[in-house]
Amino acid sequence: MQNQYVKKGEKTMAELSKGAKKIYGEAAFEVLAKAQELERQGKNILHFEIGEPDMETPENIAQAGIQAIKDKKTHYVPSIGLLELRKAVQDEVEKTRGYRPDLEQVVIIPGLKPGIFFSMLTIVNPGDEVIYQDPGYPTYGSVSSFLGAKGVLVPLLEENEFRMNPDDIKDRITNKTKLIIVNSPQNPTGSVMTKSELDDIAELAEEHDLFVVSDEIYSKMTYDTGHYTPTARDEAKERTVLLDGFSKYYAMTGWRLGYMIVPSRMAERLQNFLVSAVSCTAAFTQHAGVEALTGDQSFIPEMMARFKEKRDRIVNGLNSISGFTCQVPKGAFYAFPNIIETGMTSQECADHLLYNAGVATLPGTAFGPYGEGYLRFSYATTLENVDEAIERIKKSFK
Ligand SMILES: Cc1ncc(COP(=O)(O)O)c(C=O)c1O
Repeated sequence: MQNQYVKKGEKTMAELSKGAKKIYGEAAFEVLAKAQELERQGKNILHFEIGEPDMETPENIAQAGIQAIKDKKTHYVPSIGLLELRKAVQDEVEKTRGYRPDLEQVVIIPGLKPGIFFSMLTIVNPGDEVIYQDPGYPTYGSVSSFLGAKGVLVPLLEENEFRMNPDDIKDRITNKTKLIIVNSPQNPTGSVMTKSELDDIAELAEEHDLFVVSDEIYSKMTYDTGHYTPTARDEAKERTVLLDGFSKYYAMTGWRLGYMIVPSRMAERLQNFLVSAVSCTAAFTQHAGVEALTGDQSFIPEMMARFKEKRDRIVNGLNSISGFTCQVPKGAFYAFPNIIETGMTSQECADHLLYNAGVATLPGTAFGPYGEGYLRFSYATTLENVDEAIERIKKSFK
């Protein structure tokens, strides 16, 4: 039978789906590829583009994963996650967020990112509006676009220390709004929202009957403030979703492990998404996750002390470059300097630094249009590299 898309006698190429044309990638991986190409040509590149800690996974966690493989934990396990890890997550959320979710609210996922994807698939319909930060993590916009939803941007302003202002959200709520996505501590600016701002957002969601997805992947990576969650208001029982994971503060990016706390009506549907898409999260990775949550935690404060030293060094360094000004970020491991005075666009400046200084960074616009005028530096590197990068940048502008 003739395919409905093909006219007789016409040579055609089968069309990809509409969604496939609308989903988009991430600049960090593109810049990494460019930087690696320069390295292949013999150039020395200092890497500030990729958002992962420069430490190895703590030995006790790695050993738990190795032991699990030796113990033959290499088979399918329940889609929703291992009971042992889900219980450890219950304890963890009680300790860190001040409420204890029911077991049926806890869903284990292969990295936090699938949690963004699956929660949006569960919540958003084509034509809905999704409100999120700009500059912000590109996945929110990409998945909104894929789903045929409209992304509604809330600008993060330097004069508000790059925090999302609940009044700006309020102004953007329409009868099509379905979801607000919050990310604190934030990528790419390193901003940390206050408890009262997050409570206001949860309250707005309640008033307007909306969902909130809270991406808390940097939850244990604040410097001088605490970490707060908008999910505390309804304890993720009605309309809020807590996403967190092991990638950043346990230095486990490659293990692929995260968790979601969701309303139980959503957990039932998510289970089917997981069954259909991934079957389950790797069993030995989950055993490593149990050790991460229940074992020695001293790795985290030690890592954060080192990050703080690097943060202060890079912020001071950036502020000493003519044309650059940089606020002190309160969380994560990103510095987000303003480069407007250089007279270059973000892309021009990032290219200039890569090709003329051998310093790989991301243009602020990789995180949305309101990132124009900024660069993102991931300072998960050595103090020596930070010093060397600052020197190279200064020289490149002479
Ligand atoms: C805000 C934010 N969410 C999610 C992720 C992805 O986390 P994972 O590697 O666990 O999927 C990142 C990683 O850079 C991030 O910055």
